[in-house]
Amino acid sequence: MKILGINCMNHDAAMAVVDYSSGIGEVLWAAHAERYSKVKNDHYLNQAIVDEAMTYGPFDKVVYYEKPWLKKTRQLYAGQWADAFSYTELPQWHLDHFNIKIDEYVKHHDSHAAAGYYTSPFREATILTVDAIGEWDTVSISTADKIWIERKETIKYPHSLGILYSAFTHRCGLKPAEEEYILMGMAAYGEPKYKEDIYNDFVYQSPLKLKQNLHRGLSDWHPEADPMDLAASIQAVTEECLADLWKRASKYGSRNLVYAGGVALNCAANKVLANLGLFDNIWIIPNPGDAGSSLGCIAAHQKSFINWKSPFLGHNIEGEYPVDAIIKELKENKMVGVANGKAEFGPRALGNRSLLADPRGEEIKDLVNGIKKRQKFRPFAPAILEEDVNDYFALPTGVKNTPYMQYTAAYTHGKDCPAILHYDGTSRVQTVSKSDNEGFYELLKAWKKETGCPILLNTSLNIKGMPMVNDIKDGKDWTAKYGVKVL
Ligand SMILES: [Fe+2]
Repeated sequence: MKILGINCMNHDAAMAVVDYSSGIGEVLWAAHAERYSKVKNDHYLNQAIVDEAMTYGPFDKVVYYEKPWLKKTRQLYAGQWADAFSYTELPQWHLDHFNIKIDEYVKHHDSHAAAGYYTSPFREATILTVDAIGEWDTVSISTADKIWIERKETIKYPHSLGILYSAFTHRCGLKPAEEEYILMGMAAYGEPKYKEDIYNDFVYQSPLKLKQNLHRGLSDWHPEADPMDLAASIQAVTEECLADLWKRASKYGSRNLVYAGGVALNCAANKVLANLGLFDNIWIIPNPGDAGSSLGCIAAHQKSFINWKSPFLGHNIEGEYPVDAIIKELKENKMVGVANGKAEFGPRALGNRSLLADPRGEEIKDLVNGIKKRQKFRPFAPAILEEDVNDYFALPTGVKNTPYMQYTAAYTHGKDCPAILHYDGTSRVQTVSKSDNEGFYELLKAWKKETGCPILLNTSLNIKGMPMVNDIKDGKDWTAKYGVKVL
């Protein structure tokens, strides 16, 4: 039984293939459309990704990650007439171009919940899903036991924490449904001066309810405000509202939390939430947003566990991880690109499509920012040997490792690595063990042996507004264009 899962016509199209012939699901491949079309957050599939997917076929079934007709009822309610009445907005219309026929449709939040639960190490858990919007659902809480998921609570459109955060993303001059992570980074520079105003004008905290529909943004709310203060304010409100949702989820009695949906990418909030100590174990799939639902819809349809090994599921570049060549380049030029092995399925580069740099010294942050053309205030993430993490970072309560960069943590090792420190002294840290990524682990070990430092700056191998390097040609183009070697 081989199943193709698809997410498209949304903000980050993706495809996944799972094989159930051994009884448990094995992910054969999963990838983002943007890496093939070179259009960041591409809404649509393209021939190149479809061709690669088909190399894993033929498929017994094709599953889609949401219910388009149900979505249209919400679009009618919201007055999105063009979308609601457009046949070309139906996924089957788009997939006809590739001769793909959808066999099954799964509800949006059921795809999120299944992506989380069926890849988790838990057999019993509570699942909390928080995103901007599915068809109608914006927050859902389910319980899961053995293989069964049971929905317990749902909050529906227009009451949405994700939409609220996206409205502030837009208000601060960023691209909504895409650049929320930049707003999160800005929050460290501001004061939460507008927190009470946000509650007064927009939000009832418990139970979560919006006082007005913010789907079309905030217009010029507080035009005098510094965007950094707005970012700090909405981050504070989001963390408080999420804390309330986590507490509600914890009332179902499980000590295991599966946390899903795009809001689970907010690693600053994740730190706050872990520190609440409401759960002993937390699982967040490295791709908890809609792209991960290309995998989730398969699991939701099959109601069967997936043998989760790693997020390295995309396009494969054959060859040994070039440890020695990377070390040489880091020593000579302080930074180097790596495009090796299977591409990451998810928004973070975790060592296979990474731009790596020596994190020591004052000048490296500006050097890497210069190449990547990012806003200067944005921090870079560190990758560290898992066995050394507690000597350098204070991980949140109960978090033993963070292989997918899902939590921020305070740096506790003085001022020796300024390039990976955010303004508030935290980092979005990635721990690396041998089982996470053997090549990257060996590299960090060799780097430590050479320099005494177990940390490398790790940022995605792209420039602002472009998707990550995917294949060998992209790597060569990158070297030619930006003068940084890609190995
Ligand atoms: Fe979603």
